[in-house]
Amino acid sequence: MKAIRVLEYGGQLVFDDVPTPTIARDEVFVKITSTAVNHVDLVKASGTARQVLPIDLPWIPGHEFSGVVEQIGSDVVACAPGDAVFGTTTGMGAFAEYLAVKAAASARKPSNLSFEEAASVPVASQTAWEGIFTHGHLENGQTILIHGGAGAVGAYAVQLASHAGATVIATASGDDDAYLNSIGASQVIDYREAQFEKVLREKVDVVFDLVGGDTQKRSFLVLKEGGYLVSAVQPVSQEEAARHRVSGAMMRLAPSGDVLGRIARLLEEGTIRPDVATVYPLQDAAQAWKDIAGNLPGVHGLSPSGRGEARRRSHGKIVLRVA
Ligand SMILES: NC(=O)c1ccc[n+]([C@@H]2O[C@H](COP(=O)([O-])OP(=O)(O)OC[C@H]3O[C@@H](n4cnc5c(N)ncnc54)[C@H](OP(=O)(O)O)[C@@H]3O)[C@@H](O)[C@H]2O)c1
Repeated sequence: MKAIRVLEYGGQLVFDDVPTPTIARDEVFVKITSTAVNHVDLVKASGTARQVLPIDLPWIPGHEFSGVVEQIGSDVVACAPGDAVFGTTTGMGAFAEYLAVKAAASARKPSNLSFEEAASVPVASQTAWEGIFTHGHLENGQTILIHGGAGAVGAYAVQLASHAGATVIATASGDDDAYLNSIGASQVIDYREAQFEKVLREKVDVVFDLVGGDTQKRSFLVLKEGGYLVSAVQPVSQEEAARHRVSGAMMRLAPSGDVLGRIARLLEEGTIRPDVATVYPLQDAAQAWKDIAGNLPGVHGLSPSGRGEARRRSHGKIVLRVA
């Protein structure tokens, strides 16, 4: 089968012939229709975080997919050949024509979503769900501040928190204001123009940090005592958390077919919606990586867009069409 591979850390993406995978008893064999790009693909391929995010080279990137089940392992009961599914990968990557994946990490594709839209959902939506509910313990009536609210993860966090009955405040670029209001944010703070800790009138119950650095440090100032600071990007200082009498944790996505199934129902009802910015054919994966490299200076030897180049639309996922 055809696949995109990284042959060495920091090397070019190569469109290659590779062996087609075989499945274990708890796996399904999926003909991939679409996959999507995540920061972590570029970070892993660069080798800059190899101590915490090691890969076996040569490596096929891609952490999420949509497609059609062609075969099931002998222990699999949740799906059958011919089912349209979406999910997160559990071993090999999804920048390929076929995938062997644990059945437990996938769910039925929402019928109202295209395969391209469905491939954009699993990583961002489950990260948002686990960040705000599993780690942030967000409840109806509480207030949450989401940093990076217009990004892929942030937009699901805004929608899920709003649906759960929370008041949602987001930090983002000013031109994402209307978009964020349309998906459930009641206040948007332009991070380029204002410091959120000076703008907020009341303290919040939960901060979901998708930015890190100084933004994370300043977040302690706006949390109520007993509140939660959850970061998806970097560890949270336990000394600072104790000093401000809050809980702080860095999360790492633990994919779950159950959570994805619940997200699929919200998508089918129209309660939440996906956001696809661009679709490229699989063989143009290198261009897709270049598009998001601007947000990851120094990673994978790619330089950010230069001055005068059009700024990438700041929200929506980049999807790769495979079949
Ligand atoms: N721990 C995990 O398991 C896990 C899982 C998924 C993702 N992540 C991480 O979570 C982060 C977000 O991922 P994503 O896919 O949502 O990224 P994304 O789509 O690139 O979104 C990032 C957003 O943050 C905004 N932003 C940048 N600087 C900001 C600031 N100082 N204040 C407020 N907003 C700011 C950007 O806006 P502009 O472009 O307008 O500046 C953009 O809308 C990434 O670092 C990713 O690696 C972690």
